Amino acid sequence: MRKIVINNQKGGSGKTTTAVSLGAALAERGKKVLIVDLDPQASSSIWMGYHKYVADKELFDLKAGPELIFELKQNTKVKNLEIIPFSPIKNKFSNEMKSYPNKPFLLKNKFSKLPKDSFDYILFDCSPGLSLTTINALATCNEIIIPVVAQTLALYGVLSLLETLESVQSKLNPNLKISGILPCRVDTNLKHSLEILDILIEKFGILVYKTFIREDVKMSECASFHQTIFQYDNRTEAALDYKAFTAEVLFQENKFKEE
Ligand SMILES: Nc1ncnc2c1ncn2[C@@H]1O[C@H](COP(=O)(O)OP(=O)(O)OP(=O)(O)O)[C@@H](O)[C@H]1O
Ligand SMILES: [Mg+2]
Repeated sequence: MRKIVINNQKGGSGKTTTAVSLGAALAERGKKVLIVDLDPQASSSIWMGYHKYVADKELFDLKAGPELIFELKQNTKVKNLEIIPFSPIKNKFSNEMKSYPNKPFLLKNKFSKLPKDSFDYILFDCSPGLSLTTINALATCNEIIIPVVAQTLALYGVLSLLETLESVQSKLNPNLKISGILPCRVDTNLKHSLEILDILIEKFGILVYKTFIREDVKMSECASFHQTIFQYDNRTEAALDYKAFTAEVLFQENKFKEE
């Protein structure tokens, strides 16, 4: 089982698009996948058909164990792909989270006790910024994938995220490793976009995936039809790119597979 947090503190960097598209492509390759939507914007939940969803149980319940994950998971229209939709954190738990001494580990307590054959991949879609739920995801996972939009300001976002990761690794989770940086929304017609790609590779070297995701208008269209890019247009550029990226993630299995 691989537990991967898709994170970049910068808003609009392709986190949700990557969580849903990677999740769907892995599921298509026969992997059992769970997406956990931790973002109050609920973008991946809405994309998968769960709008204004309210669960009757609380993912951050202090007393619950791993069985809660099975109770909260929901089907999607994609075979092998399930989701824990975002559900507002109820006041009671929100207050408990503030006072609980191990508050960064509320998710870890549940996900680390899952039977190892429950899922092949668990992908955490985070909100922008550094919320307590994101810290919980960083404390739970062994891997982080960092999507980055090919724009100048996005480079600063990666630098500040790397600083955050150093402190997470030393204080909360020494097992957390960067699986890779994924350049997103690369406009191959724009010199500037390709220059940013070069700078990313120059600065971060082999941490940058070989695949980059091209700008593709069909990506925002498919979300509004509640379809994955593969259901909407399996041959469009972003679909081909996300499949190639997924092959790279699968290739990393030997390095990252957890028992
Ligand atoms: N390859 C692409 N081509 C065109 N548009 C894209 C592509 N990837 C993402 N987008 C669009 O960019 C916007 C931001 O993407 P996304 O929602 O995945 O980012 P995010 O990091 O999850 O944002 P937030 O920080 O708000 O959660 C969305 O409107 C999405 O449809
Ligand atoms: Mg998002």
